[in-house]
Amino acid sequence: MTRRSTTSPFVTLIAGLWALTAPGALAQDAERGEEVFNRCAACHEIGPEADIRVGPPLTGVVGRQAGRHAGFDYSDAMVAAGEAGLVWSEETLFEYLAGPTDFLRAYLGDDSARAKMAFQLRDKQDRRDVIAYLATFNESGQEAAQAPIPAEPVQTASTELCVRNRDTHTHVFAAEAEGAERQVTTLAPGERLCIETRKSDARGVVSVYDSEDAFEGCSRLVPVGRTEDMLKYVDFDRCFWSSNT
Ligand code: HEC
Repeated sequence: MTRRSTTSPFVTLIAGLWALTAPGALAQDAERGEEVFNRCAACHEIGPEADIRVGPPLTGVVGRQAGRHAGFDYSDAMVAAGEAGLVWSEETLFEYLAGPTDFLRAYLGDDSARAKMAFQLRDKQDRRDVIAYLATFNESGQEAAQAPIPAEPVQTASTELCVRNRDTHTHVFAAEAEGAERQVTTLAPGERLCIETRKSDARGVVSVYDSEDAFEGCSRLVPVGRTEDMLKYVDFDRCFWSSNT
């Protein structure tokens, strides 16, 4: 069972932020992933104009339900997995790419399931990097850092620190700052969590976790008096954020 740290989370998070931004500490490399993608390109296209080849287009695949590209003839196993709730996240892609048939069998609990993708990417770093590359494309093929939900101006008191979920999925958010109690809550798309501090020049940390059980999340160090928008949850060190003052 995963346990979230209970001691001095503010300090731990800030220490964690330094570790994540230290040179060489990034777990994934989207540029390297573009090279790895050459091996997928025999069967998959990606980008705004991507079309069906041997496999479905992979534009916006991170966050998409499995087996759902219109017009592509998926295996029965893939369709069943999508219907059973399989969504492509970094974790599920990481397992799937290592062995599509094994993954679908385990997911469906059906030893006769067969994936149509006759390709396996064994190397873990290759998998991490190619997933980072896939995550740079959203559904319309634009850079993923563009907000999926249009921005609207937000009024915040200068002693408030807020975080808003602008992703298309529900996630667990935390906000903490000097002179304020740490708060953790689940936010549906568009919802906001705010904390009030006594100091207007304080700094805080907002974090997002994929779910209740996720230990690693994306954190961001921010001045109080701002609303941080979490645009897209990708992985513990690669979420896309923007700010509203
Ligand atoms: C030999 C051709 C081939 C290669 C190479 C290949 N794929 Fe696939 N891929 C397919 C096919 C065919 C499917 C459909 C699988 C099914 O229906 O079971 C698929 C499905 C997928 C899916 C599921 C898409 C969806 O809409 O649910 C993902 C994700 C994926 N591939 C990623 C990759 C990545 C990343 C690589 C490179 C590391 C790769 N594939 C290499 C043929 C290939």
